[in-house]
Amino acid sequence: MKKILFINACVRSNSRTKQLAAYVLGKLDGEVHEFRLEDMKFPEVNEEFLAERERKSSSGELDGEMFVCARALAEADEVVIAAPYWDLSFPASLKAFFEQANVLGVTFEYSADGRPVGLCRADRLIYVTTAGGSFFSDEYGFGYVRTLAAAFYGIGEIVQFKAEGLDIYGADVESILAGTKQIIDEYFREKRSV
Ligand SMILES: Cc1cc2nc3c(=O)[nH]c(=O)nc-3n(C[C@H](O)[C@H](O)[C@H](O)COP(=O)(O)O)c2cc1C
Repeated sequence: MKKILFINACVRSNSRTKQLAAYVLGKLDGEVHEFRLEDMKFPEVNEEFLAERERKSSSGELDGEMFVCARALAEADEVVIAAPYWDLSFPASLKAFFEQANVLGVTFEYSADGRPVGLCRADRLIYVTTAGGSFFSDEYGFGYVRTLAAAFYGIGEIVQFKAEGLDIYGADVESILAGTKQIIDEYFREKRSV
């Protein structure tokens, strides 16, 4: 069975981002393994941590707690990220996850000419986000994840589903979310017809 890694950076109990991500997950076949970032305690990435990680990764000791995020990412067949648009980007918990997951020899390696080469199995990453206002640019949120996933993890298809304007006074939140769900439906309909 396909392994789906669901990286959930949502924090609110009635999160609209989580609602859209659940809609996406409902379209996928496979076993979902959720990393609820709010519940995870990431170690501080300080000098001591980096030295210990370097020692363990260079001696091939990759089975411990230190590499849980990296192994989950490398072994997933598909990745779904739910991250609300915060401060033009995403919650810091997602960056903390990437700090733990980006491990040389697990999620990526370097070629002889110094370029990153992905070691992740996934062929698709779906990024789900919602904004209270408008997305000024994708540069610091989805754009960052897209570049990381393509350049470092070697994931071929990176898709974003988003909804915006949800906190604007008078916004019809249900109809905005319904519009995004329709886009999600169309995407999967097209995928199934090829
Ligand atoms: C800490 C924080 C930062 C936010 N920053 C932005 C922002 O930069 N731009 C924006 O349009 N909305 C911003 N918002 C509003 C959220 O993007 C919006 O409420 C979003 O739908 C939250 O998703 P959720 O319903 O999944 O929690 C912010 C909200 C919070 C709590």
